[in-house]
Amino acid sequence: MIYLDNAATTLHKPPQVTQAVLEAMQTLGNSARGAHAGALDASRVIYTARERLARLLGCPRPDHVVFTCNVTEALNTAICGLVEPGDHVVTTVLEHNSVLRPLYRLEKEAGIRLDLVPADGQGRLDYETMERLVGRDTCLVVCTHASNLTGNLTDIPRVSGIAHAANALLVVDAAQTAGTRRVDMEDLGADVLCFTGHKGLMGPQGTGGLCIREGVEIRPFKCGGTGVQTYLPRQPSQYPTRLEAGTLNGHGIAGLSASVQWILETGVEKIEDRERAMTQRFCEGVRGLPGVKVYGDFTGPHAAIVTLNIGDLDSGQVADRLAEDYGIAVRAGAHCAPRMHEALGTREQGAVRFSFSWYTDDGEIDAAVEAVGRIAEDEQEKPQ
Ligand code: ALA
Repeated sequence: MIYLDNAATTLHKPPQVTQAVLEAMQTLGNSARGAHAGALDASRVIYTARERLARLLGCPRPDHVVFTCNVTEALNTAICGLVEPGDHVVTTVLEHNSVLRPLYRLEKEAGIRLDLVPADGQGRLDYETMERLVGRDTCLVVCTHASNLTGNLTDIPRVSGIAHAANALLVVDAAQTAGTRRVDMEDLGADVLCFTGHKGLMGPQGTGGLCIREGVEIRPFKCGGTGVQTYLPRQPSQYPTRLEAGTLNGHGIAGLSASVQWILETGVEKIEDRERAMTQRFCEGVRGLPGVKVYGDFTGPHAAIVTLNIGDLDSGQVADRLAEDYGIAVRAGAHCAPRMHEALGTREQGAVRFSFSWYTDDGEIDAAVEAVGRIAEDEQEKPQ
């Protein structure tokens, strides 16, 4: 199989990741629950993971790296823990349902006022409208670092400037960028940066988290056992315990720690360069093909994603043909990004997304270009 669905999850991981999970499963007790060797080992492994992630993502304090089971839980934690009933929140049409749905729910149940910044037909965010929408009454701006549909990167320092000029906090969804390019929460101006472990960070599924700037107070989304301050009726207030009720995914976090260490050693710039080369090669290959429409803006910084349609073919049918006839795995349909599809005009057709990783090679790119070309050719030859 040629695996080009890395924006959904990376399938190929550094071998150290599997090794670390295996070792953790054979040795770890429950972190912060006991003083025996297994429990202490778990605490050490998890703290090392916090340190490595803090280094990679520019979080000033390792104890402000909080683990969740994925970026959806991280975003829910940040959004629900920062917004009060009646607040004004601004987000964008680029967002995934992991941002939109919690906000729609708060709109319905807590009476928050919600505004969405529009994008043009190439998925470019309208920053001027964002400037108008964010005002003195805005408490929170939530913005993705890269669209999971077009791969367009957003100008987060600019968004941060807009949010902070109005004294609003900025939550950044780094699901599609962490591990694949330089992501430094301080340089970006993010108050909270949410990440997932299983995509560009190349760790196991079931891992993710938040990096929180000092001074940002997030109300706990869930309450429960922490192994410390047990007689306190409320959730302890210090990070990371404040947001980490229940046993952590120590085995997954051990794997994530190994993948982050691999990224730190390899160099995120090297990973970005390789992914950029794969993206360019594919984009140049498919762009001129008859009937192929590529979405997104490739004039600026871009994630390793190329999304397209072939004539009027249903995107799901194209993905099925790619899988069945050519052994190529991609993601079609709506990608949990309903408003972005509406902005691109692909609500009915969906779109076919190709996404690349460090482990993608030239031969795989060329095979995918050829497969798209053949399907496009068949479509051209079909009697109208
Ligand atoms: N959010 C993931 C994607 O874009 C699953 O495919």
